[in-house]
Amino acid sequence: MKIAILPGDGIGPEIMAQAVKVLNVLGEQFEMETADVGGAGYAAHGHPLPPATLALAKSADAVLFGAVGDFKYDTLERSLRPEQAILGLRRELALFANLRPAILYPELAGASTLKPEVVSGLDILIIRELTGDIYFGKPRGVRECPDGPFKGEREGFDTMRYAETEIRRIAHVAFQAAQKRSKRVTSVDKANVLETFQFWRDIVTDVHKEYPDIELDHMYVDNAAMQLVRAPKKFDVMVTGNMFGDILSDCAAMLTGSIGMLPSASLDASNKGLYEPSHGSAPDIAGKGIANPLATILSAAMMLRFSLNKVEQADRIENAVKKVLAQGLRTADIFEAGTTKVGTEEMGNAVVKSLG
Ligand code: IPM
Ligand code: MN
Repeated sequence: MKIAILPGDGIGPEIMAQAVKVLNVLGEQFEMETADVGGAGYAAHGHPLPPATLALAKSADAVLFGAVGDFKYDTLERSLRPEQAILGLRRELALFANLRPAILYPELAGASTLKPEVVSGLDILIIRELTGDIYFGKPRGVRECPDGPFKGEREGFDTMRYAETEIRRIAHVAFQAAQKRSKRVTSVDKANVLETFQFWRDIVTDVHKEYPDIELDHMYVDNAAMQLVRAPKKFDVMVTGNMFGDILSDCAAMLTGSIGMLPSASLDASNKGLYEPSHGSAPDIAGKGIANPLATILSAAMMLRFSLNKVEQADRIENAVKKVLAQGLRTADIFEAGTTKVGTEEMGNAVVKSLG
């Protein structure tokens, strides 16, 4: 089995090194190949998603991705910015289903900004459509405003759109995920204002007919944002479009107090996938050896579970992480009084040790 290892920028290489270490001690025969991506891709090959990196990602059974982005690339033209790497991989590999779990580990209840009773036991799964919507819709750009009070001025514009197939397939992913959980799906839209999302609601409602065992409700995105902070445990599986999912998943992640803990999976129709931590490249702490590697290690576990069919190994890693937390080991982002502060490498080593 071949795994493409794409560490990227900022803390990416540091956290990836820990995940690779964990994969190496499982006793499995993985072929791991590393390539530059993001700012690192631009620096070495002149493009954030160099052709060789894309070819490797396409040929691999799964991709483990670190993070991309750094202040020093912010002034590049859009097509060369590090973010284009992840957007390009999603598009080129057709990774339309993004699974973003937000789980509160009991040991970390104190790390949330919300009251412990509001978040304790939190376990939600946000399913974000990842290759459509206003992120990829065309046309887009800056043009002369064609009409209305600002006619003749320059205007920026993007296109929000969803094809029926795109909505159907993500709805199936959500209902099937719910069948393995508490059998409830909340579809989040803006059907009161947007044509695209009235259509979304109609199609999700239609797909639901195939899943009589699942309870479906619909919620407007503004209300969903409010409910996520007010009573997040009411949710189980949430399914939504690309942009709403981007925003709501950051919000949900922070309910757990620790975006440094959360993995994610981006899957295509055959469950080939790209796995990455939910957090970014954190260039401000890069190279300091203090970043939390657990989201990347847990992403490797998700990869074993969903793409490589190594469910027992995935369980082993997840249990090792729980054990390390129970031992009181904490990186700086989740540190509280009474626990033991460790660096990136020590945390990785502790997980390796707990694997037995
Ligand atoms: C994410 C990120 C990306 C997104 C950026 C880096 C393009 O915020 O994965 O949530 O907006 O999808
Ligand atoms: Mn985001």
